[in-house]
Amino acid sequence: MRTSTVDLVLKNSKIFTYQGIISGGLAVKEGKIHKFLKEPELLRSDKTIDAKGHLLLPGIIDPHVHLRDLQLSYKEDFYTGTCAAATGGITTVLDMPNTIPRTSSLKALREKKREAEKKIVVNVAFYAGFPKDINEVKQIAEQGIAGFKIYPHDPMEEINFQDEKQICAYFRAAAENNLPVLVHPDNLETIKTLQSELEKQKRPDIEVFLGSHPATSEAKAITRYSDLGVKTGCRLHICHVSSSESVVAIKGALEKGARLTCEVTPHHLLLTSEEIRRQGALAKVLPPLRSRDDNVALWAAVLDGVINVIASDHAPHSLSEKEKPFPEAPSGFPGLETLLPLMLTKVARGDLRLEKLVDLTSRSPAKIFKLENKGMLLEGYDADMVLVDLKEKWRISPEKFHSKSKFSPFKNWNVVGKVRMTFIKGVCVMSDEEILVPRGFGKVINVNQ
Ligand code: NCD
Ligand code: ZN
Ligand code: ZN
Ligand code: ZN
Repeated sequence: MRTSTVDLVLKNSKIFTYQGIISGGLAVKEGKIHKFLKEPELLRSDKTIDAKGHLLLPGIIDPHVHLRDLQLSYKEDFYTGTCAAATGGITTVLDMPNTIPRTSSLKALREKKREAEKKIVVNVAFYAGFPKDINEVKQIAEQGIAGFKIYPHDPMEEINFQDEKQICAYFRAAAENNLPVLVHPDNLETIKTLQSELEKQKRPDIEVFLGSHPATSEAKAITRYSDLGVKTGCRLHICHVSSSESVVAIKGALEKGARLTCEVTPHHLLLTSEEIRRQGALAKVLPPLRSRDDNVALWAAVLDGVINVIASDHAPHSLSEKEKPFPEAPSGFPGLETLLPLMLTKVARGDLRLEKLVDLTSRSPAKIFKLENKGMLLEGYDADMVLVDLKEKWRISPEKFHSKSKFSPFKNWNVVGKVRMTFIKGVCVMSDEEILVPRGFGKVINVNQ
């Protein structure tokens, strides 16, 4: 029997669809999922890969990643960061703008894209910061960014977060360009006030850090910005929700009609502030790790659909920076290579349904950030896929990370579920921790709003 030639046949797989798992194969043609096949032998193909009975999922879409590069390339560069993504089963990353230079001008965005195109091995889309000149919002939006990010706790920001009129003007400008605003929910004035109070009381460094970033000010910031979102018609995405108070604030905002989505990280679901006391600055992150009750409230919000996405907030730093005295050490740690195995471990234990996980990490981020033809295994969709062994048990060894940041608060955790292969547009970019494509194989995605 003669059929047209396809580019890849993946055979002997279990394919995840929302209608159930299909046992069989799949053909890829011109980067797209061409057909699901019961009998893949019937198709002529340039290449056949045996999936050895493993599970094929849509590639993970991680909407909160700091790939750094440019002047911060000592922490991470576009190559190492996207190799880490591929190893973690992540086929698309959305990159944050808090770099040097900051991605808050047309010029800085173009420079980042140019550099990325030479180095990336997975798909990358960019966020921008709001530009000093509000008239530049439209031009930046037209470059295909996925959203504007605000850091109200960061004195480097171009906008004045005390000035509500100014914030509203920027929110309106984002809305006019159909772009969401991503919010790091915090407030600089509160941090400064609490910090100086706690320092006066001679509290230990770790307690000063935890006490100056309380859950209440996170929740307050969520309410404040979602109210401004309602007022201006602007869509918001709340980053790294970390506490039960924040979940309450989000429910309140949704009831008031806010167009709002939010994400949670694996570390806020799985770790508590005890980890900072145990591991010191290595586990220092913003928002801080909180309590067991917060973990429980976040899981409940994930399961009942209040939280839409699981994102890594991959925030690499050099080890020498993290080894500085606690107050000077930067916040954040890598997460691209641990997100999927940690969550598959929850699936293996029966705490999370596979279908829910795939929604949180693929379908939902694709929908929120308008990544066309991504996030599901469907005929005609991009063949961005990850092959996982649900049964394999292994131990997290940060020294083996592809990221330049070879540390993790999850070091030595035993996990169940291993990424075997990662495919971008039907090409196997990573197999058993080895990167198989050259630098620059990945594409910068320009999002159509
Ligand atoms: C992030 C970083 O290092 O860029 N750090 C962090 O602790 N999460 C910044 C951020 O996401 O707020
Ligand atoms: Zn943040
Ligand atoms: Zn971040
Ligand atoms: Zn296997």
